[in-house]
Amino acid sequence: MSPRIITIDGPAGAGKTTVSKALAADLGCVYVDTGALYRGVAYEIQNQNADWEKDEILAEFLTGLDLNFILDGPDLTLVSSGKDITPFIRTSEISMLASAVSARPEVRATLLDLQRRIGMNQDAVFEGRDMGTVVFPDADFKFFLSADISVRARRRFDETGDQGKDFQTVQAEMSRRDHDDTHRKEAPLKPAPDAVRIDSTHLSILEVVARMKSYIQNS
Ligand code: DC
Repeated sequence: MSPRIITIDGPAGAGKTTVSKALAADLGCVYVDTGALYRGVAYEIQNQNADWEKDEILAEFLTGLDLNFILDGPDLTLVSSGKDITPFIRTSEISMLASAVSARPEVRATLLDLQRRIGMNQDAVFEGRDMGTVVFPDADFKFFLSADISVRARRRFDETGDQGKDFQTVQAEMSRRDHDDTHRKEAPLKPAPDAVRIDSTHLSILEVVARMKSYIQNS
């Protein structure tokens, strides 16, 4: 029997991470944050000072890239060439660079294989932008989680303090990232036609998870 795959897509700050972790814990399967992979690519580009806008340099960079997850607990660890880079991938510079490099088809193709390989081995909840549309079009259950931009920016601001940035800046950066992720040519952020859409503007995490569970149990 092939593994059970659940996808949760949506914009930044919609609550995907907390919801995905809670759902995976509840269903007893692994949770995979695919945004972390794009952040890992951005981190290594920054680290190696790679001129990624040049095609040949990007191709060479991707050939040498060795990213993987350690998926043995509730919090995943992102490893690059054997080194744990998880603590370094959540800055706002990496967020913006991850969004920019994620528009490159070569980057997406490299990560597509890695994501599908992870999905072949175990039941999993995958969170991202194109899980239900591109990476796992045949997923068993697909959800698209959204919320108003002001609520998403407020959550991000309260969670991280975002390195001393004021709320307006956090919201403006989030809105730019939304625009870029939604308008890129390759695998843009959008709900799969068969995804269940949930607006979390007025819902708690527990309520969102309860809706998802009830949908899964009743299908
Ligand atoms: O989910 P996140 O904010 O950590 O993702 C960082 C960036 O990576 C996001 O702005 C767009 C990109 N991304 C993507 O293109 N496809 C995914 N499946 C996940 C993330």
